[in-house]
Amino acid sequence: MTIPSVGILGLGSYLPPKVLTNLDLEKIVDTTDDWIITRTGIKERRIAEKGTPTSDLASEAARAALKDAHLNSSDIDLIICATISPDMLFPSTACIIQRKIGASCPAFDISAACSGFPYALGIAESFIRAQICRHVLVIGAEVISSFINWKDRSTCVLFGDGAGAAVVGPSVKNGNRILATFLGSDGNQADLLKIPAGGSAIPSTKESIDAGLHYVRMEGSEVFKCAVKTMGDAIFEVLKRSGRSLEDIDCLIPHQANLRILNAVAERVGIPKEKVYINLDRYGNMSAASTIVALSEASKDGTIRKGSFVVLVAFGSGFTWAANAIQW
Ligand code: ACO
Repeated sequence: MTIPSVGILGLGSYLPPKVLTNLDLEKIVDTTDDWIITRTGIKERRIAEKGTPTSDLASEAARAALKDAHLNSSDIDLIICATISPDMLFPSTACIIQRKIGASCPAFDISAACSGFPYALGIAESFIRAQICRHVLVIGAEVISSFINWKDRSTCVLFGDGAGAAVVGPSVKNGNRILATFLGSDGNQADLLKIPAGGSAIPSTKESIDAGLHYVRMEGSEVFKCAVKTMGDAIFEVLKRSGRSLEDIDCLIPHQANLRILNAVAERVGIPKEKVYINLDRYGNMSAASTIVALSEASKDGTIRKGSFVVLVAFGSGFTWAANAIQW
């Protein structure tokens, strides 16, 4: 049995039209455009209309990726949705997306926070290599605005909503190839970035809601330090696994958390900043959607071309971290 090489056959993204600028935020919380730009690099973010489920954004991105791959929903053998803002605790958002796009195949969610898309891409790659599936729809989607305390200036300025999708399958002639994936996690750090309530540990009650435990909580400076270290380590590990060196990287697509984190990662690993793809100024941190929206945009705006060697890298709650190496 020949093990197939696996590639990305189509990419798509969807951003809700409503733009929330830093100047808009100045009217909501005690912050300034200057503070947000200096500390994070974020100028604006997209916010879904109230009541919009994550599956709506995800389905739009999925349709765009299917069109890009010249495939139909009936060609998909598996849907994996990476999200930390699911439509509800269960059923999975992936099952709801399956219904919305008219697919009939297995579907499940994964929870790896901002590392969700690189994790899901690695899972899809393994399923295809094992010949369990041929075409896998991999989605990263968030309506994280529903889980943000809009009175907490230390978190509400950071995040945005969006979705991206990739159709993954056996590599086609002259197509790209996923060379390696690396996944990491450390549950000892689980308390540093979390939504404490709404699960079995602290079920939702009036008290938990009054205490705001259903919103994102974060120890920003600890998150910052771990993000820089683990994303750097993940880049070196995936390079080793793919038999490539740092100089081979044409485009680094990092999780778009914060410009200062990305500058620190670039400096730590020794990669020129011009090779680091940035769109966080327009979208903020879209958690699991960040890397896939950036990859989709980079492939469409010509940053990634035939022959480019691309590394995706992410870090998120858990803590989790992950990287994929792709030869375009
Ligand atoms: N506007 C104005 N002032 C603010 C704001 C704001 N939005 N937020 C915090 N401040 C104030 C603080 O209250 C503090 O004031 P004080 O000195 O009077 O106490 C001051 O600014 C400095 O606060 P710090 O938290 O020390 O600011 P820092 O430079 O560390 O930046 C930040 C905070 C941007 C959150 C930073 O720690 C960071 O980027 N952390 C990583 C966050 C992140 O990206 N998380 C997600 C990554 S992982 C994932 O995506 C799941």
